[in-house]
Amino acid sequence: MRVFATWKHKSRNWLHKIMERYVVTGGAGFIGSALVRALLNQGGSQVAVIDNFLSGKRSNLEGLDGALEVHDADIRDFDAMSRMVKGAAAVFHLAAIPSVPRSIAQPVPSHEVNIDGTFTLLRACAEAKAGRVVYAASSSAYGDTEVLPKVESMMPRPKSPYAAQKLMGEYYAGVFADCFGLPGVSLRFFNVYGPRQDPLSPYSGVISIFMRCLIERRSPTIHGDGEQSRDFTFVEDVAALCIKASQAPGVSGKVINAGNGNRYTLNQVWQTLNKIEGVSIAAEYGQPRPGDVRDSQADTTLARTLLGHQPEFRLEEGLRRTLAWYRETST
Ligand code: UD1
Repeated sequence: MRVFATWKHKSRNWLHKIMERYVVTGGAGFIGSALVRALLNQGGSQVAVIDNFLSGKRSNLEGLDGALEVHDADIRDFDAMSRMVKGAAAVFHLAAIPSVPRSIAQPVPSHEVNIDGTFTLLRACAEAKAGRVVYAASSSAYGDTEVLPKVESMMPRPKSPYAAQKLMGEYYAGVFADCFGLPGVSLRFFNVYGPRQDPLSPYSGVISIFMRCLIERRSPTIHGDGEQSRDFTFVEDVAALCIKASQAPGVSGKVINAGNGNRYTLNQVWQTLNKIEGVSIAAEYGQPRPGDVRDSQADTTLARTLLGHQPEFRLEEGLRRTLAWYRETST
């Protein structure tokens, strides 16, 4: 395990004492690094990133200084986790092997990381008496529902190993709160997009793939008819919600949607991107993807009432910002 400390003011130990320590697993990932940025920006935070750099990247943390430590460690390593979560006011557990189709193609690694890793991390947090766990759950847990938007009280119907694994993580977070006194709240992320989402894997999120196609003036392949819809949620809104969930009173044991409250079809998203870019590139269409949910849209009432959350970014603004980032960073 290697530790990289970028805190420039280490000698100021008195400051250490008044700063809150936060841990972000998966902190070098696309969503994790946005959360780390938001935590450092709020001031008074000391942030420890835990990442095994399987999909996380050091470059996602570039330009960040202040009270940041980066630990190259795996969430399945109980001893390492126990040491690292000690004294944490909150542990944000975002490390995972994401992707519905990857969990179908390779169910064993995704099970080991998403279920065994989550269990190990929660156990370490309980034993170290960490302040609170904020768990990155997934909207995929709902599966196909007859009614939209999707409300937390609906019966989950996971359609893929990934969805089942993320649901199990929620159950474990709740059980650790009830049985082991570890405060925990689960946020069901709804299709998060934004700067730093890696477009290069076949399992990448669709918006990152669309961005790359647009910049390279290529047609994307849409699985199915493109009329499936998602509640695409800008990464900065999700980071803000995570922080609120780490602070709000009375939310331990709760499951709360982290979505925007709208839904757009893939065809609409591709058309919007064409409009923003002033081009007209037709999409290609392929076979529907196994395990895919047809429609997804969050009911955001609970996030609003329990966490005082109001998403800031509507889709077009989020797409513009995301596209600007891809343009700046593409060579
Ligand atoms: C699911 C979860 C999401 C979670 C993510 C993690 C749902 C509703 N959402 O996202 O909360 O964060 O897993 O991986 O289950 N597609 C194409 N062309 C492509 C790539 C994707 O058409 O090149 C389509 C997919 O078939 C799907 C949609 O785009 O219909 C979104 O896919 P993706 O971005 O992979 O996310 P979900 O699987 O919806």
